[in-house]
Amino acid sequence: MIVTTKKLFEAAYGKYAIGAYNINNLEQIVGLFRGNLLSQAPFIIQISKGARSYTDKLLLEGLIRSADEVFPEAIFAVHLDHGDEQTAYECIESGFYSSVMIDASHEDFETNMAITKRVVDAAHAKGIVVEAELGQLGGVEEHVQVDEADAKLTDPKQAKEFVDRTGCDSLAVAIGTSHGAFKFSGSQSLHFDVLAEIQKTLPNFPLVMHGSSSVPEDEVARINAAGGKIEGAKGVDAGQFKRASELGVTKINIDTDGRLVWTRVHREVFRDHPEVFDLRKPGTIFMEEYAKFIAEKNRYLGSEGQLEKVRALLTD
Ligand code: G3H
Ligand code: 13P
Ligand code: ZN
Repeated sequence: MIVTTKKLFEAAYGKYAIGAYNINNLEQIVGLFRGNLLSQAPFIIQISKGARSYTDKLLLEGLIRSADEVFPEAIFAVHLDHGDEQTAYECIESGFYSSVMIDASHEDFETNMAITKRVVDAAHAKGIVVEAELGQLGGVEEHVQVDEADAKLTDPKQAKEFVDRTGCDSLAVAIGTSHGAFKFSGSQSLHFDVLAEIQKTLPNFPLVMHGSSSVPEDEVARINAAGGKIEGAKGVDAGQFKRASELGVTKINIDTDGRLVWTRVHREVFRDHPEVFDLRKPGTIFMEEYAKFIAEKNRYLGSEGQLEKVRALLTD
């Protein structure tokens, strides 16, 4: 069942965070649904602009519609990740997305607010909710490249004004994370002090943490042992998700870790079985491993076991 992120956030606020997972293909979608049902968790399926154009957005949407039929117990939101204004309008018009992100965080404060407000007006007219972003993460985003040194943490005072003036439904904040597998170069860490200030100015308002992959050392080591070359990778300690959710974070974005699972499975299969050329061999293992990975993430997020409570809330 597709629901808005707003409903999921009402259930989760202050207690746990909902996992927001990026998907690009059939195997990820199947692993994602299986993993969330395995751990009885509500979830958010995220589609980036790159994912929409990887094959054709209609193919991806069709796969998700079918997964909704194949896994009728699942409760999830369909969300555009890091949308620009044009893509946000396309997703709003499509009637398929329950939530869109407008990411104008690379613009100045006033321009970011003006763009966000236009998208909020268009989305709300159709019952769709909007995530916006204020502050800049380090690392690479789809249409923005930000050096670690230039990453700007969210200003708590601006956050309140931003939300009041745009009417957005949730806010992605920059508190020290970055996208990709190479976070925290030097001695950086999560800025819980900034997060606590933001929560003070915006009590009960859902916050979002991007760039939250953990980039597990053992996963990277297995990839490298199977011929990979990923050096100096570092991520967010999943043990910190709980504290973040107590401070108002209700959505935690994870993409890179899923890509690492994919890379490890495929490298190991082809290393250990050089005779294999049946794509279903690594595909089957990947779906199983990805499902396990999702279930484990949900345990850290606290969304494990929340599915029936959310269902009850939805039918109230
Ligand atoms: O933050 C970006 C996500 O990891 C999506 O990545 O734009 O390569 O699909 P992508
Ligand atoms: P990671 O690169 O840490 O997985 O972050 C993903 C993300 O923020 C997607 O919007
Ligand atoms: Zn992101």
